[in-house]
Amino acid sequence: MQLQPSEVTSVLKKEIEGFASKTTTESVGQVLQVGDGVARVYGLADCMMSELLEFPEGVMGVALNLEEDNVGVVLLGNASAVKEGDTVKTTGRIISVPTGMALVGRVVDTLGRPLDGKGPIRTEASDQRPIEQPAPNVVERQPVKEPLMTGIKAIDSMIPIGRGQRELIIGDRQTGKTALIVDTIINQKKTGGGDPQHPDQVICIYVAVGQKQSTVVEVQRRLEQSGAMPYTIVVCASAMEEASMQFLAPYAGCSMGERMRDAGRAVLIAFDDLTKQAAAYRQVMLLLRRPPGREAFPGDIFNLHSRLLERAAKLSDKAPELNKRYSKGGGSMTALPVVETQEGDVSAYIPTNVISITDGQIFLEGNLFYAGVRPAVNVGISVSRVGGSAQTPVMKKVAGGLRINLAQYRELEAFAQFGSDLDKATQAALNRGARLVEILKQGQYVPLANADQIVAIYAGTSGALDDLPVDQVRAFERGFVEFMNDTQPELMQQLNAWKTKWDAVEEPLKAAAAAYKAQFSPVDKSGETVEKTKAPAGTDKPAEAAKAPPGGKGEAASH
Ligand SMILES: Nc1ncnc2c1ncn2[C@@H]1O[C@H](COP(=O)(O)OP(=O)(O)OP(=O)(O)O)[C@@H](O)[C@H]1O
Ligand SMILES: [Mg+2]
Repeated sequence: MQLQPSEVTSVLKKEIEGFASKTTTESVGQVLQVGDGVARVYGLADCMMSELLEFPEGVMGVALNLEEDNVGVVLLGNASAVKEGDTVKTTGRIISVPTGMALVGRVVDTLGRPLDGKGPIRTEASDQRPIEQPAPNVVERQPVKEPLMTGIKAIDSMIPIGRGQRELIIGDRQTGKTALIVDTIINQKKTGGGDPQHPDQVICIYVAVGQKQSTVVEVQRRLEQSGAMPYTIVVCASAMEEASMQFLAPYAGCSMGERMRDAGRAVLIAFDDLTKQAAAYRQVMLLLRRPPGREAFPGDIFNLHSRLLERAAKLSDKAPELNKRYSKGGGSMTALPVVETQEGDVSAYIPTNVISITDGQIFLEGNLFYAGVRPAVNVGISVSRVGGSAQTPVMKKVAGGLRINLAQYRELEAFAQFGSDLDKATQAALNRGARLVEILKQGQYVPLANADQIVAIYAGTSGALDDLPVDQVRAFERGFVEFMNDTQPELMQQLNAWKTKWDAVEEPLKAAAAAYKAQFSPVDKSGETVEKTKAPAGTDKPAEAAKAPPGGKGEAASH
């Protein structure tokens, strides 16, 4: 066969044109030093901040310190496999996590890997999102105006939380902080029936940082029992994980939430807790030899929390026109960070930082908790700076005097312990206060609908309870709520609705309260004395309530 030179050249030309170079460049460095989960790497000249780096045996690391001649890296995963002299490759990717609906209902770690033994999580490469993303800017947001109901009387009535708000939960250890979050998550079932596909269902994310594994298992079990797990993601970086995994977990959870917020959904995210996140961050930064500042925290500890919490937002309906990152407007992400205090000291570094970043705080007080006032909300110093517009008008009206009445009660209580001759007005304020405190007590795992809360609080603020013994209050409340649901379903529906005006329901509510009062028979007639407050049978922990000092001495002094 004869070869035509022209044919040969044309074939060669075609081949050359079709030639695609498959070479890629990789920046490679060497481990100089490794220990305590931190490595120093030489030779990664073009490494990016927060870039994922690949070590031998599949260990990953994140570049956190970019210095003149080396890079400080925190290792994620099995740090003991890394040796001096190992080669390190850059990946060109900022640390990212899988996001999307596939994660809902699952328990995952900081990198989005399943921890619940329910098999792999199916996500695409396009579902990956960097864990740090810029927060929505001012024009992309709108004011907070929709309620995020917690189902907890003491909060929804006096410290209402709006969607897109950041509300801090702060208190000593074992004061019911986690319990508040769990109840709030359970209550979100009312928004969409617990079906994550329902567009109104609030998606919940519980980020556990530095918690005992047993606590996380208990939370998960409770959520499952209450049917709340199908719409919840649990991101878990427990106390046994590396410090790097612990301080990155809140950002990972945030990115998972943002994906849904940007698609127009309402998201609730709880960080339990930021004190432990800060401690983990401090540990890593001290190992990286960043200079320590106040309480040995690095200088950017404020930024650690502010850039996280800024990502909570209520998006404008027009957000998609402004930025193509948003596929649908109107979504929201509400953040409930938790901070643990020592002996109620809110002036420590981390508490003051987070208080100044958030839009209000729910302060849980040990003294109240031990006196049987649970949830142990200290009304005097708890606030919600934006939530007021997120209450229904009827709730606003009914709960209007609650705060001031309780504050008065706490003031007077201190005097009442000494004096005997109290004038009528003081006696009345004390009477009312004691009953309101009872009304606001609530057991765990029983979040209430808006109408149920209104009815219960109305019983207290309208004075219907004033002539009942204090130990009958909770029995009355339970009975009254039941009575209303059984006999007045339309009125209850009205009370739940957003548009209902107070004038429309005032008379029927008054009549119903009078009707129930007439038929109410005290559960246990012997309980005449106010002193021995005894919780009615079947409610939470009567033994502890009975042990409580009369009136709970300590808390009056604190505000
Ligand atoms: N409203 C409530 N009624 C009765 N018991 C409650 C209530 N809230 C919390 N508890 C109980 O109080 C205990 C402490 O609650 P929880 O674990 O929520 O506190 P915490 O502040 O998160 O504690 P930690 O500091 O350990 O994280 C738990 O045993 C819980 O069951
Ligand atoms: Mg807790």
